[in-house]
Amino acid sequence: LPDQDFSQQAHIPSFQKVILSPSFSLSTDSSTLYRFQYQEMYKRSIEDPSGFWSDMASEFYWKKKWDHQVCSENLDIRKGNINIEVGNHISFIHMQHYRIHNQLMGFSQWFKGGVTNICYNCLDRNIESGNGEKIAIHWEGNEPGVDDSLTYNQLLDRVCQLANYLKQNGVKKGDSVIIYLPMLMELPISMLACARIGAVHSVVFAGFSAESLEQRIIDCKPKIVITCNAVKRGSKIINLKDIVDSALSESSQNGVCVGLCLTSANESAMKREATKWIKERDVWWQDDVPKYSTKCDVEWVDGEDPLFLLYTSGSTGKPKGVLHTTAGYMIYTAATFKYAFDYKQSDIYWCTADCGWITGHSYVAYGPLLNGATVVVYEGVPNYPDPGRCWDIVDKYKVTIFYTAPTLVRSLMRDGDEYVTRYSRKSLRVLGSVGEPINPSAWRWFFNVVGDSRCPISDTWWQTETGGFMITPLPGAWPQKPGSATFPFFGVQPVIVDEKGKEMKGECSGYLCVKTSWPGAFRTLFGDHERYETTYFSAFPGYYFSGDGCRRDKDGYYWLTGRVDDVINVSGHRIGTAEVESALVSHPKCAEAAVVGVEHEVKGQCIYAFVTPVEGVAYSEDLKKSLVLSVRTNIGAFAAPDKIHWAPGLPKTRSGKIMRRILRKIASRQLDELGDTSTLADPNVVDQLIALADS
Ligand code: PRX
Repeated sequence: LPDQDFSQQAHIPSFQKVILSPSFSLSTDSSTLYRFQYQEMYKRSIEDPSGFWSDMASEFYWKKKWDHQVCSENLDIRKGNINIEVGNHISFIHMQHYRIHNQLMGFSQWFKGGVTNICYNCLDRNIESGNGEKIAIHWEGNEPGVDDSLTYNQLLDRVCQLANYLKQNGVKKGDSVIIYLPMLMELPISMLACARIGAVHSVVFAGFSAESLEQRIIDCKPKIVITCNAVKRGSKIINLKDIVDSALSESSQNGVCVGLCLTSANESAMKREATKWIKERDVWWQDDVPKYSTKCDVEWVDGEDPLFLLYTSGSTGKPKGVLHTTAGYMIYTAATFKYAFDYKQSDIYWCTADCGWITGHSYVAYGPLLNGATVVVYEGVPNYPDPGRCWDIVDKYKVTIFYTAPTLVRSLMRDGDEYVTRYSRKSLRVLGSVGEPINPSAWRWFFNVVGDSRCPISDTWWQTETGGFMITPLPGAWPQKPGSATFPFFGVQPVIVDEKGKEMKGECSGYLCVKTSWPGAFRTLFGDHERYETTYFSAFPGYYFSGDGCRRDKDGYYWLTGRVDDVINVSGHRIGTAEVESALVSHPKCAEAAVVGVEHEVKGQCIYAFVTPVEGVAYSEDLKKSLVLSVRTNIGAFAAPDKIHWAPGLPKTRSGKIMRRILRKIASRQLDELGDTSTLADPNVVDQLIALADS
């Protein structure tokens, strides 16, 4: 808890000092939080979580209030003895994977027994409070000049039509629906329509390949897949329908039968007539959905009913289906959005993330809409037609809160200030960063050039699993240190432990864990609660383990230092090394592969692959290309390795374990830091790898 007086800021090294003077005005609204208020609220959130979160929850509509207990949890198997009932109202297949066990690790429930609906709270509730004519979504197309918008009233109409359509086509509460869409308005509409009828959406980022999509379809067996024919990203056209067709034809071989593929015609990318069509299965959204009524009753759900499933990478080849439930997620995304961005009703908010990732779920769709915000949704890429596009959009919509990723900041920084300064940007008042640690030089450029040295930066640390922000500045509440995510959000108790799991106090660095549950916490990994327990709760018993390294400085600020597991963070996208390796070894000419992350100027980290071809296959540029293609088709273009390094052998211990530490050093050419290689089964491989470094 930051209990020192920061007003003098004398303890902050001057290069990190960012003075936010008292006149630094976030807005004219007096609800802006100051440090002492944060401290009081934080203290209460820890000492009286039930009271604290009940108050936050009371802003929302509940058909029925939750049972007496706001939260029940068991982060530690040693604490044990929590009885879990599995309610029979839960139709969702995934719930059967909650083991009925009285000592379920990692288990937590929030607002159990409460009956609500997140779509109702995003739309109907805001309309009833007089915001029906407020713009909910400004949609900006890939091409400048192509745009659209929806008020809250119009958004509700569109959501209800789709919800009725889904119901009519057999989607019931608890069924899953896969959404494979780019950033069209249809994407948040689809998510909200599922939520309205209690269906569980699983959005798959439209950059994933047919194989990845197929894997997810086989895993969660959706009733319907929602897609569009094509998307234009920058000057490139991607035919999404072809990818879906291929995924569906493969998954039907695996016993999954998706009866219906609802396809939105994105005519600015591809004409309808050019789209391949399977008559018995495919339906054009624009033809059928608008025929349905704009009124659709809400399916009231239990606070613990599942809301969505989102796949993310882990340290094995199989992606993890992170399951979030309704009420805790709803309260948490709403509260974090409001406080971390100092949200006011007059704000225009733009988050550059895609809804295919958690940031898009929580901070393009749910968090802002729950607050009745006006959200900008952008279809295209940030540097099309030129690197000034973001600031053009900021000026066009008078964006006040701009939330993005360090990789974008670094890439725009490289293009030069002129693309930024030619736009006014005077509407901006709060900036945000997410996805990876933001390096101080990018932070300063973001602050000084983009924000004209007047907008605080909320560097939000969180994860797919956490649902919402965990460690984040609250704008203006305390001095910022470039590169630090600062302090925990309400209700979050971060701890840093050593490798033995011992909690460290004060200034230290180690593994970042969290003590006690928070409302936005995911509840399980779909179909594999055991993996949930072992991945997150067994490494350091008694805590949730994030997989990140972290340092706490003498002022109590938290500094995230990156993943400590086999996960690479490329341009803010989380990619498991094992996934890339299995894509590489699926190539017939690849005998073995080992993948590591290496620092990259723009992407943060890039993928560096050591590959051993099968006996007798020669190294060649063509083979490199075809190996990269194998990753593109197995996972998606965003996971393509930047470098293939030929490896006659890999450095392994005598028990056969690949020593990635050594590979990381070779990949980053830190050859004098290879450390002890004598424990390797064959120390010669290291010299061979060094010799092949530039081939
Ligand atoms: O390593 C951390 C990094 O991104 C990981 C979570 O990735 P994902 O689940 O895909 O969610 C990304 C968007 C929330 C974390 O384990 N990460 C995320 N935000 C930050 C960060 N690292 C440092 N600083 C951040 N602000």
